[in-house]
Amino acid sequence: MPVAPAIPDNAPFSAEQRAWLNGFIAGLLNRAQTGTAAGATEQTKTPLLIAFGSQSGNAESYAKKLAKEAAAKGFTARAESLDAVQAADLTREKNVLIISSTWGEGDMPDNAQTFWSALNQNGSSPKLDGVRYSVLALGDKNYSGTFCLAGKKLDARLEELGAQRVAPRVDCDVDFDAPAKKWSAAAFNALNGSSSVRSDLSEQSDSSGSGYSKARPFPAPLLQNHSLNARGSSKDTRHIAFSLKGSGLSYEAGDALGVCVKNCPDVVDAVIKSHGLDPTAAVPLPDEGSAPLRDALISHYGVREWFGKTPEKPLSPDEFVSSLRKLQPRLYSISSSPKAHPGEVHLTVGVVRYEKDGTAHKGVASTFLADRLAIGDTTGVFIHTSPHFRPPADQSLPVIMVGPGTGIAPFRAFLEERGVTGATGKNWLFFGDQRRATDFLYHDQIMEWLKSGHLTRLDTAFSRDQAEKVYVQNRMMSAASELWQWLDEGGHFYVCGDASRMAKDVDAALLQVIQTAGGKTAEDAAAYMADMKKAKRYLRDVY
Ligand SMILES: Cc1cc2nc3c(=O)[nH]c(=O)nc-3n(C[C@H](O)[C@H](O)[C@H](O)COP(=O)(O)OP(=O)(O)OC[C@H]3O[C@@H](n4cnc5c(N)ncnc54)[C@H](O)[C@@H]3O)c2cc1C
Ligand SMILES: NC(=O)c1ccc[n+]([C@@H]2O[C@H](COP(=O)([O-])OP(=O)(O)OC[C@H]3O[C@@H](n4cnc5c(N)ncnc54)[C@H](OP(=O)(O)O)[C@@H]3O)[C@@H](O)[C@H]2O)c1
Ligand SMILES: Cc1cc2nc3c(=O)[nH]c(=O)nc-3n(C[C@H](O)[C@H](O)[C@H](O)COP(=O)(O)O)c2cc1C
Repeated sequence: MPVAPAIPDNAPFSAEQRAWLNGFIAGLLNRAQTGTAAGATEQTKTPLLIAFGSQSGNAESYAKKLAKEAAAKGFTARAESLDAVQAADLTREKNVLIISSTWGEGDMPDNAQTFWSALNQNGSSPKLDGVRYSVLALGDKNYSGTFCLAGKKLDARLEELGAQRVAPRVDCDVDFDAPAKKWSAAAFNALNGSSSVRSDLSEQSDSSGSGYSKARPFPAPLLQNHSLNARGSSKDTRHIAFSLKGSGLSYEAGDALGVCVKNCPDVVDAVIKSHGLDPTAAVPLPDEGSAPLRDALISHYGVREWFGKTPEKPLSPDEFVSSLRKLQPRLYSISSSPKAHPGEVHLTVGVVRYEKDGTAHKGVASTFLADRLAIGDTTGVFIHTSPHFRPPADQSLPVIMVGPGTGIAPFRAFLEERGVTGATGKNWLFFGDQRRATDFLYHDQIMEWLKSGHLTRLDTAFSRDQAEKVYVQNRMMSAASELWQWLDEGGHFYVCGDASRMAKDVDAALLQVIQTAGGKTAEDAAAYMADMKKAKRYLRDVY
C-alpha cells in the first residue's frame, strides 16, 4: 500500500529536500512494516565500505562480490582498495569491513601499504571512535610464522585507534570460501543488528558467466607443451597451451589460470611404502566420500611434505590422511592475449626439480604439466581474475615491463594485446634469465616485436653470460634517465616473477631511479612511488 507523504507541501523545505525526507520516512515505515533488511529502500540502507588489500585478486574479487550481496541485505556498499581510502576519512565511514591477504614475509599487499603507513603515523594517526568494523584475513598456513599477519595487524591497529570490532576477525587458509561466508554473515548481522539477514553467499566467483569456476573447473584439453629453453640449459621452462573451446570461459591479459593437478604416482607409491600403508584401504576424501588410499593420495591430498620421510610411530591409513591438507590447484599467470589466441589460454611454466638431503624432489603442478599430462588429456582449469593487473586503459600511455624468467608470462600477453588492439603507447621490456643462448624465452616473438617497432625498447640481463652477475635491476639503473622520462610521461611500471629476491631488488632500484634521475630527495622519491601505487601505475604480479 502506498504511504502518504509525511512532509506537507507548505513545510519549510525545498522540493528536493521534501522528496528526500518523504522517501526517508516512507523507507523507515516500510522497514518497520516488513521487519526485514531486504525491504529497505535506498534511503534507509546502511552505508558500508568494504575495503580490500589484495595482491593476486582473491580479496578484491571477494570484496566486490560481497558489495553486491550487501545491497540485498540493507546496505549501500562500495568496494575499494585500502589505498584508495584516506585513513583520516575512515571516521566518516561508520561501517567498515576489511578483507586483506598477506604477502611477502607477512607484509601488506601492495595496495594496502599506504593505508597501513597512514594508520601508523606518529602523532597523526586518525581517531576511529564511532567506526564499527570487522576484518577477514586471507592467508596460507604454509607461511606458519606469518599466517594472516597483515589482517591480524590491521585488526589490532583499528582497535587501538578506537574503532569498535563488531564481529571477530576470521583467519582463512587457502580454501577460504566457507570461513569467509561465516564471517560475512556474522559481520552483516552485527552491522545491521538484524538476525534475519541471510548468511549465504552465492557459490565461487564465476565472473565469466560460463558456469565454470574454482568450485567447478572446466576440463580443458592440453594443446601444447614445448620447451622454451634450448638444449644445454640448466632450466626447464615450458610453453603450455590449453583449449577453452566450448567452455564459455573468458579472460583478460593480466589474469591467471587456476590448474587442478595430480601428484606423481611414483611419489605417492614411495610415501605409501615408507609409511608401511595399505594402498587399497578405503579412506575419507577431504570434502566428501571415500576412495582407496593410493587414489586419494594421487588426486586429493598434498603429500609433498611426507616424501622422503618416515613417521615416528606407525599410522593407520585414516590417521595418515587426517594429517594431510587438501591438494590445491596452482595459479599461473596467463601468457596469451585472448584476442590473439581465441579459444586458447597459454602459460609459461618453470618446472620445479631440486635435490634435498640426497633425494630428488619435483614440484607437483609443474611436473604434472610438463611430464604427466599428455597432449589431448584434460585437467580442470578456472580463470583467476586479476582486476588490479591490467595494461593501462589509456592505450596511449607508455608501459614498462620487468619480467625475468617466467615473469615474462603476463608481458607476452600485454604485448600481444596491445599489438592486436593497436595501442599507440610505447612498450619497454626488461627480460633476464641465466644464458642468452639457451634461456631467452619467446626469443623469436620478442625480436619480431622489436624489429616492427611494437617493442620500443628491450633490455636483457643474462646473469650467467659473464663472470659478474647482471640482473634486470642493473639494466634499470643503467637506463635511469630514460626510465625516469617514461615515468614522467605517465608510464605504467609492471613487475612479474620471483617475489622473494627479484621483486624486492627491482623495487629498490625503481626508488633509486626516481631519486637520482628524477632529482628528488629520498622522502620525495618514496612519496612519488606511493602515488604511483595509488594511481595503479606501479603494479606487481609476484610469486
Ligand atoms: C599469482 C601467481 C602467478 C604465478 N605464475 C606463475 C607462472 O607464470 N609461471 C610459473 O612457473 N609459476 C607461477 N606461479 C607459481 C606456481 O603457482 C607454482 O607455485 C609453481 O609452479 C610451483 O608449483 P609446483 O606444484 O610445481 O611445486 P610445489 O610442489 O608446490 O613445490 C614448490 C616448493 O618446493 C620447494 N622448493 C622449490 N625449489 C626448491 C629448492 N631449490 N630447494 C628447496 N626447496 C625448494 C619450496 O618449498 C616451494 O614452495 C605463480 C604463482 C602465483 C601465486
Ligand atoms: N612461491 C612459489 O611457489 C614459487 C614457485 C616457483 C617459482 N617461484 C619463484 O619464481 C621464480 C621464477 O623462476 P624462474 O625460473 O622463472 O626465474 P628466476 O629463478 O627468477 O631466474 C630468472 C633470472 O633472474 C635472476 N635473478 C636471480 N636473483 C635475482 C635478483 N635478486 N634480482 C633480479 N634477478 C635475479 C636469475 O639469475 P641467477 O639464477 O643466475 O642468479 C635469472 O637470470 C623462482 O626464482 C622462484 O623463486 C616461486
Ligand atoms: C609470494 C607469496 C607470499 C605469501 N606470503 C604469505 C604470508 O606471509 N602469510 C600468509 O598467511 N599468506 C601468504 N601468502 C598467501 C596469500 O595471502 C593467499 O594466497 C591469499 O589468498 C592471496 O590473496 P590475494 O589474491 O587477495 O592477494 C603468500 C602468497 C604468495 C604467493
